[in-house]
Amino acid sequence: MSGLKLIGTGGALPAREVTNGELTRRVDTSDEWIVSRTGIRSRRWCSPGESHTALCLTAARQAMERAGVGPEEVGACLVATFTGDRMTPGTSVALQGLLGLPEDTVCFDLNAACAGFLYAVHTASRLLPVNGRRYGLVLGAEVLTRVTDLDDRSTCVLFGDGAGAAVVEWGEDFPDLCAVMGCRARPETLCVPGVGTGEASVIRMDGQAVFRFAVEALPRCVTQVLDRAGLRPEEVDRFVFHQANQRIIDLAVRKLRLPPERCAGNIARTGNTSAASVPLLLNELAERGKLRPGQRALCVGFGAGLTWAGALLELGIRS
Ligand code: ACO
Repeated sequence: MSGLKLIGTGGALPAREVTNGELTRRVDTSDEWIVSRTGIRSRRWCSPGESHTALCLTAARQAMERAGVGPEEVGACLVATFTGDRMTPGTSVALQGLLGLPEDTVCFDLNAACAGFLYAVHTASRLLPVNGRRYGLVLGAEVLTRVTDLDDRSTCVLFGDGAGAAVVEWGEDFPDLCAVMGCRARPETLCVPGVGTGEASVIRMDGQAVFRFAVEALPRCVTQVLDRAGLRPEEVDRFVFHQANQRIIDLAVRKLRLPPERCAGNIARTGNTSAASVPLLLNELAERGKLRPGQRALCVGFGAGLTWAGALLELGIRS
């Protein structure tokens, strides 16, 4: 058996906080509507001059410093995103230069929407033994404001920008991720048309259809990961769920009878940051001393595609 440990985290949020109150001056909405339907109270939006690459660089440096891992030790750098600064080359490639990663580091961006970070963690677990260096840098990052119609009240209240980073260590005797992943082609449910297609490159979403999918997919992923790991819910220290909507999380927590204190989230302050959501929450929990060495975190992401992914991360947080 071989697997990964999470040994360092980092995060970066744009400086500008956008409260529900500010949005009520932009679109026809209310704080009461947003909080009761989503749990979101504020989110961070990038200002001109803040870039996807800069957010990723800050988060990556922080994670590497906390893990005590230097650039020469990194074998793979993967960035889960669909809102990078360039269509190509990817932000991961920019990070190779900015961080001084060796040229044989496997660097690429990966798009699996809100499940992307966990797809990337799983991919890193397969690439690191091939590369030969045991440390991987895995990020989830989005500047969703670039693909959101900021005058559309049904979507602009939901999304935020940010980047989360994780340094993972591969080991022959480390526990398996027990990862589950999948997709179902339903672009009509949630999609962002590509540039040059003749359609605006903004998020189009059937909110209720996504909601129905999410309340089925989230508990299913948790159950499948637990089954693969042979664990009961009470043997998991933290549940780290994609922060799409507090109601989705609450329904899953109730359905699975999970202890709510192990399912803490941050959606109230970040909104839905898609691929950045899980690593940003991991970083916040680590900073609050809630991820201790030897503990296990069960993470789940779900979103456009439709895509979903779940994995069990063994924690070896170094600071
Ligand atoms: N403020 C006030 N009213 C609003 C707003 C708003 N911001 N947005 C929509 N409404 C109105 C609608 O127009 C509608 O009015 P009507 O009844 O007069 O037609 C009414 O509120 C109800 O709209 P619904 O869409 O039915 O509201 P719902 O309770 O389903 O909540 C929501 C909408 C929050 C979007 C919910 O469906 C949801 O969270 N879905 C999941 C979304 C999600 O997680 N998406 C991201 C996946 S991540 C990714 O891959 C990028």
